[in-house]
This record gives sequence, C-alpha cells and structure tokens, in this order.
Amino acid sequence: MKVIDMRRLVIKLSGHIFFSNKINVDLMSRYSKIIRELHRRGERMVIVVGGGSYARKYIEAADHMKASEFEKDYLGILITHGNAFLFATALGEIAYKPIPKNIDEIMEAAENKDKVVICGGLVPGQSTMTVAAMVAEALRANLIINATDVDGIYDKDPKKNPDAKMLRKVTVKDLRRILGEGEFKAGTYRLIDPHALRIIERAKIPVKVLNGFDERNIIRAIEGEDVGTTIIVH
Ligand code: UTP
Repeated sequence: MKVIDMRRLVIKLSGHIFFSNKINVDLMSRYSKIIRELHRRGERMVIVVGGGSYARKYIEAADHMKASEFEKDYLGILITHGNAFLFATALGEIAYKPIPKNIDEIMEAAENKDKVVICGGLVPGQSTMTVAAMVAEALRANLIINATDVDGIYDKDPKKNPDAKMLRKVTVKDLRRILGEGEFKAGTYRLIDPHALRIIERAKIPVKVLNGFDERNIIRAIEGEDVGTTIIVH
C-alpha cells in the first residue's frame, strides 16, 4: 500500500463522532485498529480528541449555574481529557500515558517514537481544532486531518441551504469568508475557528476535513485519495 512519506501527522477526532447520545465504542475500537496499523507503518501521530455532546451538556449545566465563559471552557477541556483517556485505553500499550495536558508535555511525549500521543484541550478560549493546529505547528507536521461528523466543508451552511455544495478544495481566504467570525463562547467554536485558521495559514500546513464516521477515510487521506475537503495553504 502506497503511503506518502509522512514524518508527522496530527489527527483531530471530533468529539461528535464518538460521544453523542451514547459512547460509540465500536467506532472507537475500529479507530484503534487503524491507528495501530498506521503506527506499524512508521507514522508518527498526535491525536487530539474533542469534547462531543457530553462537553456541551456540562457547559449547558454550568451555564444554568451562571458559570463564566472561562469556567465553561475549562469544564469542556476536562471532558476532552476524559475522552482522550478513554481513546488511549482503546489504543492500549502504544498510547502515551498519562495524557499530556499542556504544550510542553505534548512536545515531550511526541519525542517518544514508539508511542502515539493522545491529547484533548489545552487552554480556555479555543477549540480542539486550535490545539491540533498548534501541535502541528510545534511538531512541524506535514498534514492535519480533521475527522468530523460532516463530509467536508460546504460553500454555505448545508443545514440552512439544501443547495449547498461540498468543496473539494478551499483556500484559507475563501474559508474565512464562508465561516465568518463565528461565536466566541464555550461549546460553540466552529468546525475551524479563526484562531486555528491563523495558525494553519502561518505554519502552511494543509488540512483535510473528512467524514470521521468512516475510519478508513484517514487512510484514504494519507494515501492522497480525493476524500473530504482540502484546505490549501499556499
Ligand atoms: P471542542 O469543541 O473542540 O470539541 O471542545 P469537539 O466536540 O470535538 O468539537 P467539534 O466536533 O470539532 O465541533 C469542547 C469544548 O472544550 C473547550 C471549548 O469550550 C470547546 O467548545 N475547549 C477545548 C477549550 O476551551 N480549550 C481547548 O483547548 C479545547
């Protein structure tokens, strides 16, 4: 099987693919197989796991208790750490433990060639996609994969516009126009928030946004197949 010579790969697994009404343990174990396969092939990976609907439920409950945006983000981060730990458990001995909680710990963990690094959120005021972008920049990754609950990026919001078209390729500039500013509140950061976009742009790391419910899409993306949307950075 042909694999692009990939020094480093950062994979963002949206919390929404694993954690919705219940925890999708089947999908999680399918992902652990794929990640083990990639690890055997010599890929060096950092996997960022998001918060999913559980993070939103906690954030909503905290909102009822008049929590600040900082407190709600912080709560969201704690949930991502639990989710990351669960995924690390599914992955078994190749997962680096304990889960790194800040950028220093992530960089230190990533030095270890025999382990796959799994992490969650880092600091309030951003999404796990920003974490993926930061980690990718820190480690000079070649590609970021965002495995999410939609097929890719559309030219308009597909939930509001039935004629919305999925884009195969999109530049950062066009994406900024499509996404707009978005909300800046716990639990509401968009698919790719503006902060993540700025990092991707300056680090010039391409991003593939693809449907994470089919775990083999990750392999397809690595092998250069036309899957999802590619964010072009040059
Ligand atoms: P995400 O919104 O990134 O998780 O993190 P997700 O479910 O994977 O998101 P999608 O599927 O890509 O939309 C959950 C929440 O944790 C907080 C934010 O409140 C965020 O909405 N968080 C996460 C932070 O405050 N800082 C981080 O570094 C990461």
